[in-house]
Amino acid sequence: MLDEIAALSAEFDQALPSADSVASIEAVRLRFFGRKDGVIPALFTRLKTVPAESKRDVGDALNRFRNDIEARLKARSTELAEEERKRSELRNVIDVTLPGRVPVLGHLHPISIVRRQLEEIFREMGYSMDPGPELESDWYNFEALNFTPSHPARDTQDTFYVGDDLLLRTHTSNVQIRSMEKVRPPIKVLSVGRVYRRDEITLRRSPMFHQAEGFIVDEGIHFGHLKGTLEHVVRRLFSEGTKVRFRPSFFPFTEPSAEVDISCVFCGGEGCGTCSRTGWMEILGCGMIHPNVFRNVKIDPERWSGFAFGMGIDRIAMLKFGIPNIRTLFENDLRVLRQF
Ligand code: DAH
Repeated sequence: MLDEIAALSAEFDQALPSADSVASIEAVRLRFFGRKDGVIPALFTRLKTVPAESKRDVGDALNRFRNDIEARLKARSTELAEEERKRSELRNVIDVTLPGRVPVLGHLHPISIVRRQLEEIFREMGYSMDPGPELESDWYNFEALNFTPSHPARDTQDTFYVGDDLLLRTHTSNVQIRSMEKVRPPIKVLSVGRVYRRDEITLRRSPMFHQAEGFIVDEGIHFGHLKGTLEHVVRRLFSEGTKVRFRPSFFPFTEPSAEVDISCVFCGGEGCGTCSRTGWMEILGCGMIHPNVFRNVKIDPERWSGFAFGMGIDRIAMLKFGIPNIRTLFENDLRVLRQF
């Protein structure tokens, strides 16, 4: 029987390490300890038949064998359970090195880009922002700006009237009057917003578009300040090398008045299709604030002077980004907007 124990011990030594799952370990356990067919219970039953003189030795060996494999089975089970726990931990692991999901951000509209750029340039020069109202009376949009009663811009052809004395502003110049009524000089204001005109939609025109109006009122302001300011703005807005030229013009609310051209942003002044071979493009109107405008807001034109200018934001956006059709700015086609 001692030989049998030795053989079973060898069998166990081989079976245990290759048991690599809960099920196979259970099979080994059944083979040795199974109530019905287990070899250990069978050996204990047969111990009764062992002759008295060797019973003690065989009993000892059998006990040692049983205790030994019992302990090793238990250790192996614990080991397997631990391995299983580690495996499941790995399966549920959070990989902190995975790149995060980038949130989908919107895009700035080209008009917003130009607007923000202008606001930044003027804020740096100490201007404050005042959008002003889009619904306006004749006084603020025309009369106080020195438009004569018969001026063609008042014509219903150009202006959307909402009531007898209520209209959609045709330009942002209304902010000049509104600001000068509110605060006494010195004043420095930039106003960016929507304006409306009864125009057909074409490549360059839309019944609603955007303007930026800037003006300054102080003692001793002269045309040189206007020139210097606009040259600085144009170079910041386009590029350092952009050339600027002033042409005499007429606006009811400025005297003298000028229109400003910049060297064509497409051909650099050589002359191309976009600038009608002139090398220049008109981008804004400006001038020294008319004494009548000052009188209308009770500012003494003998003491104070100022300059004003107005420019089309849509046009600047089209020039900056090479957009040939103004409609592109208002269609909100995502394929276009995603490029900005
Ligand atoms: N309000 C003018 C327009 O809509 C633009 C303009 C020209 C504004 C001269 C000004 C200026 O302030 O001085 O065409």
